[in-house]
Amino acid sequence: MMKPFKSIFIAIVAVVLLNACSPAGGENTGSEYMADMAHSIAYESNVYTYYHYNTWDSASTFKRKAFSNPNLPVHGTIPRGYAGLYYATGPEAQKAMMEHLHGMNAINAISVPLNGNVPYYYADTNEDRARATAEIISNPFPITDEGLARAKVLYNTFCGICHGEKGDGLGYLVSDENKNAKYPAQPANLLDSAFVNSSNGRYYHAIMYGLNTMGAYPDKLSFEERWQVIHYVRSLQAASKNLIYSEKANTLNPQFGVPGSVVQAAAKQVSDAAEQPAEGATDTQEQQHGGGH
Ligand code: HEC
Repeated sequence: MMKPFKSIFIAIVAVVLLNACSPAGGENTGSEYMADMAHSIAYESNVYTYYHYNTWDSASTFKRKAFSNPNLPVHGTIPRGYAGLYYATGPEAQKAMMEHLHGMNAINAISVPLNGNVPYYYADTNEDRARATAEIISNPFPITDEGLARAKVLYNTFCGICHGEKGDGLGYLVSDENKNAKYPAQPANLLDSAFVNSSNGRYYHAIMYGLNTMGAYPDKLSFEERWQVIHYVRSLQAASKNLIYSEKANTLNPQFGVPGSVVQAAAKQVSDAAEQPAEGATDTQEQQHGGGH
């Protein structure tokens, strides 16, 4: 009498067990008996909860976040292909610098095309604003007509709406011609002598972090564009004083920028468009990698 019940019971247990071990698929991670070491832990770098999916104990010395977010580059890293030097004082210096940057100085050197970027070591604090103002003096790019023309567009797009096309702080967002002007703060009058006399670092810092109601622009302006915009602001300041700030001359303040006509442009192509390494450099690399990649 008990026999049929026993077989039915065994059958049910078997079905449950088989079902429990059914293979993973889709959203179902499946189940494993004695799963430890059956497979390796997958590092899902962009899945915040990856650790849940891939471990069986709750005791871990790792902090999830350390694995699950894309990491910042090592402090002080300059990405390959980025260098912040753009001009030299003469043909000899330029040749030496280009050879160095293009890796011709040593058999195992790495060629660095000049498309320009440097890490920024200043924090968004008042002390660091002052430090940037004191320490960042020269514009790494020479003043060029081409750069000023590009920067004019950038300035009018990103800055002029507040600071005014002339730099006088009377941009459309706060001007009388805008009947709906509601912007709560007065944009700085960049033609004020306080700003004319300020070093380039104050501008660079303002672009990197903004200030109070002004937002930050590092994601909208590349390294090179930031510096071109600063050149452009200087040219507006010069214009307001009937001085010259151009490729030909700089009578505003020699510290702020070097006219392109008096220096050798190290990189003709200074925009962010990829610059090809010099031919010699490619050769050096190919030898090094045993015939290219
Ligand atoms: C939405 C309006 C707005 C835009 C756009 C804007 N600014 Fe400003 N900016 C301000 C205001 C407002 C201040 C004054 C902030 C204060 O002193 O509290 C200011 C201040 C500054 C200062 C002075 C910082 C200091 O050290 O006192 C600089 C330099 C500056 N802006 C440059 C720029 C540049 C360059 C751009 C374009 C990339 C730009 N701003 C875009 C509103 C703006």
